[in-house]
Amino acid sequence: MLGDYKEFEENILKLTGIDLNSYKEKQMKRRLDFLLDRMGKKNYEEYFKVLKEDKEELEKFKSYITINVSEFFRNYPQWEILQNRIMPYLLNLKKGQALNIWSAACSTGDEPYSVAMMMQENFPTVKFNILATDIDEDILEKARKGEYYIKSVEKIPRTYTDNFFTKTDKDTYKIKDDIKKYITFKRHDLIRDPYFKDIDLIICRNVVIYFTEEVKEHLYEKFAQSMQSGRILFIGNTEQIINSGRYGFEYVENFFYKKV
Ligand SMILES: C[S@@+](CC[C@H](N)C(=O)[O-])C[C@H]1O[C@@H](n2cnc3c(N)ncnc32)[C@H](O)[C@@H]1O
Repeated sequence: MLGDYKEFEENILKLTGIDLNSYKEKQMKRRLDFLLDRMGKKNYEEYFKVLKEDKEELEKFKSYITINVSEFFRNYPQWEILQNRIMPYLLNLKKGQALNIWSAACSTGDEPYSVAMMMQENFPTVKFNILATDIDEDILEKARKGEYYIKSVEKIPRTYTDNFFTKTDKDTYKIKDDIKKYITFKRHDLIRDPYFKDIDLIICRNVVIYFTEEVKEHLYEKFAQSMQSGRILFIGNTEQIINSGRYGFEYVENFFYKKV
C-alpha cells in the first residue's frame, strides 16, 4: 500500500499546478512507483516530503511524469506530408498573410525548430510565426537556449544542420538566431489555461496519449475553437481522433485533420 494517491494528487496540484487527475491513472502510478522505488520511499506521503524540500528532485519528478522526450522531425514521413501537401494548401488559403503556427506541448523545442527550418528551407519568402508552449518551465528554458547534443541532430538532413545550426566547441549544436526569431516560447497548460485564437496550424503530438479520454475530448474541442475553418491540426503518429466530426474536424489523411 503506497498511501493515499488522491491526497498526493492534491498536494502536487498545489505545489506545481500540475493536475495529475487529468492523466491516465494506471500509467501515472506505474511511473510514480518507479520514482518512489528509486528514492527508497515507501509511500506517496514520504515521497511528497522530498519533493517539497528538494528542488532538484521536484524538477526530476516533473520531467519524468510529463515525459519530455522529443526529436527533430519526429516520424519524418509525416513531415514530408506537411511540407509537400499540407503547407501548400495552407499557403493558398492564407493568400500571402502570415501563417500562425502553434506547437502545443513542444518540450525541448525540437518540434517548433523543425517547423521553422522546414519553412525557411522550402518556403523562404513566406511570413510565419510559431507559438511554442509547454507546461514545464524548465524544459522551455532548454528550448529557448536551443543547444543540442550531437545525438539529437545526427538524423536531421545535412542541409538543415549546415544552414541552421552552429557547432560549438563543446560538441553541441546551437540553433541559429535566424531560426529562433520565428518562435515565441511560453508556458501553457493544455488542461487548465485558455487557448489561443486564429491559429492556422496546430501541432500537438505525443502528449494527449497521457491524458484521460475525457480530458482528450475537451482538448480537441478547444483546438477546434482556436481555428477558423479550413485550418489544420497535426497529431502524433500513434494517435487518431475517433469520430472527429463531433469536434468540428474532418479527416484529411493520417495524422492531419481539417477544421470544418
Ligand atoms: C513526449 S513530449 C512531446 C514533445 C513533442 N510534441 C514531440 O512530439 O516530440 C510531451 C510534452 O508534453 C508536455 N506536457 C505534459 N502535460 C502537459 C500539459 N498539461 N500541458 C502542456 N504540456 C504538457 C510535457 O512537459 C512534455 O514536454
